[in-house]
Amino acid sequence: MSARSIASPHVVNIHDFRPLARRRLPRAVFDYLDGGADGEMTLRENCRAFDDITFRPRCAVAFTDCALRTTVLGTEISFPAMLAPVGYSRLMHPLGEVAAAAAAGKAGTGYILSTISGHSIEDVRAASQGPVFYQLYLMGGRAAAEAAIDRARKVACTGLVVTIDTPVAGLRERDFRNGIKELMGTSPFAKIPFLPQVLSRPGWLIGFLRDGGVPKLANVVVPGQGPMEMGDVAAALAASAVTWADLRWIRELWGGPIVVKGVLTAEDAKRAVDEGAAAVSVSNHGGRQLDSVRPSIRALPEVVAAVNGQIEVWMDGGVRRGSDIVKALCLGARAVLCGRAYAYALSAAGEAGVTRAIQILRADVERTIRLLGCSSVAELDRSYVEVPADWGAN
Ligand code: GLV
Repeated sequence: MSARSIASPHVVNIHDFRPLARRRLPRAVFDYLDGGADGEMTLRENCRAFDDITFRPRCAVAFTDCALRTTVLGTEISFPAMLAPVGYSRLMHPLGEVAAAAAAGKAGTGYILSTISGHSIEDVRAASQGPVFYQLYLMGGRAAAEAAIDRARKVACTGLVVTIDTPVAGLRERDFRNGIKELMGTSPFAKIPFLPQVLSRPGWLIGFLRDGGVPKLANVVVPGQGPMEMGDVAAALAASAVTWADLRWIRELWGGPIVVKGVLTAEDAKRAVDEGAAAVSVSNHGGRQLDSVRPSIRALPEVVAAVNGQIEVWMDGGVRRGSDIVKALCLGARAVLCGRAYAYALSAAGEAGVTRAIQILRADVERTIRLLGCSSVAELDRSYVEVPADWGAN
């Protein structure tokens, strides 16, 4: 895809990347990225719920400078958004996780590498000048997790992000219909009914074949065996569950900051604080796990109140505009994680796409803050937004 095709006026906002991604990817890969669980209610609500929040600007002010920098776990980032862990990124683009990390690093912000990744943590770390976090699932068992934690330490990852909302995989109906399990499996016969969608995307197919086909899970290495096969996502997540007991063991082994991702209630937020988390991310896994849970932004005030300033609160889910980022900050988030918002761009145009997506979000944040009458993200608070009365705590 040419640089022109992701510049204005072709791409003006994050939504503009979605049709570009759809055009480049086979349906199974696009729907893996785009889809959610069951009836996709939480997937839709994650975005829609931001519309329920309105701004309360202070006008007749102007500033020459606008400070967007903030810190996460003591590390500086250039604006309060980082790139969320996105599984199978190497299927979206051959440079996948390396391209995303490089774009984040050049923009001065953080990247979180998913356990379900095709590029090694060493290559990803080397690609970025910014903070890199490793998101840990327990697929492959404790020995594989120990090896990954050790590698994360050696490359000086800023923190571990432990996802707690995958006791089993959510029912991602699109994945079943598209045959993702068959396409990722080893039986050539099982793949046949699903091949037309792949053959209809020759540009993607050439890149995929040049890259060696379905990659292995470069960061899930059971000692004595090689990297695990990248199976279908349902099987991967079913083998990934993390419990509070695991968290204790992970914390001792890692010794550094841990972010607990997947918190939606005051109960889990308090538990995460008690278990020694350095931050929580308010998250419903992008609407991909338990459907009909509250949108992340709706759960944020309850979690912020429960945490009561003891640790940082991040959030992810439904962020498509800088104004969404600003709304989350007004409600007490330290930073947000963007997943699909950059993954559509990665799928459409690799690193250049991610760079453009970050540029759009960053410019949005700055414009929104200035329009609110603030000169820095540090000034944002609850007084700049109005939320529906029944949103509860905080
Ligand atoms: C992986 O974490 C996924 O949600 O697909």
